[in-house]
Amino acid sequence: MKDISTTEQLDNPTVVSGLMEITTDAPDAEPVLLSVRDVSHYYGNRIGCRNISLDLWPGEVLGIVGESGSGKSTLLNLLAGRFPPAAGTIHYRDGEGILHDVNKLPEAVRRRLLRTEWGFVYQNPRDGLRMRVSAGGNIGERLMACGSRHYGNIRGTALDWLSKVEIAGDRVDDHPTAYSGGMQQRLQIARNLVSSPRLIFMDEPTGGLDVSVQAKLLDLLRQLVRQFNLSVVLVTHDLVVARLLAHRLIVMRRGEVVEAGLSDQVLDDPHHAYTQLLVSSILQG
Ligand SMILES: Nc1ncnc2c1ncn2[C@@H]1O[C@H](COP(=O)(O)OP(=O)(O)OP(=O)(O)O)[C@@H](O)[C@H]1O
Ligand SMILES: [Mg+2]
Repeated sequence: MKDISTTEQLDNPTVVSGLMEITTDAPDAEPVLLSVRDVSHYYGNRIGCRNISLDLWPGEVLGIVGESGSGKSTLLNLLAGRFPPAAGTIHYRDGEGILHDVNKLPEAVRRRLLRTEWGFVYQNPRDGLRMRVSAGGNIGERLMACGSRHYGNIRGTALDWLSKVEIAGDRVDDHPTAYSGGMQQRLQIARNLVSSPRLIFMDEPTGGLDVSVQAKLLDLLRQLVRQFNLSVVLVTHDLVVARLLAHRLIVMRRGEVVEAGLSDQVLDDPHHAYTQLLVSSILQG
């Protein structure tokens, strides 16, 4: 049975209130995947993020940039339904076209989405991997969570994914502790992508890595995004990473969005003084 307690089927779009931006899509336009309206979150008196609205379409990479403490991770965690916003709404359209209110997802549904349709890539691969399970097991576990049972198939798929992320097959039985930081991050990506998710959340995926390892990982991510038509919400403080991966950017400062637009536009012709400062500090650095 479908989880319809907190979801709405858009057979008749007009039945869903408060979603004008979604329901007014042109008939032949691809429906929006994630729609966020006026979302805020506070830690006590401190602003985590405030009045954020954004849309994400299938196959699109949206970069969230801004200095440390600007609210990037807070927003990302809100989008992934990790905690509810103090105000605002987040809607996600699943593979069957059902619209979910992410704030009202029952835990079981949220977990199902996280297993099947979503991925979350952490800056620190230790947070996204099981360090006491072999690399193959890390990938296989996610497949089993999606219903795979045949050991041979699971191992075959795990090996296939190790090769996709450029890890030699003879490392399949190693634990991630025996991997380098870059390999761990690639393994985390394989574990996330093996179940063909539609939407990946990434928080500084190349943050902890050496520059040369970072460059290789960026290449790989670009290739995977294109190959699997992934939608990604990418948090990064690194404008080089943002330009390479993201189609569109939002720039955050003190919890608010100060500028948004196509990546090249925002980075080549920043309008807000804060974005100009961010861009010029990169040029000087
Ligand atoms: N668990 C928490 N408790 C209290 N305040 C928090 C907590 N997490 C974040 N904050 C505050 O919320 C604001 C936004 O933090 P957030 O972690 O979202 O920023 P960020 O842009 O991801 O920073 P960074 O680039 O350093 O990861 C900051 O002022 C931060 O101090
Ligand atoms: Mg952060």
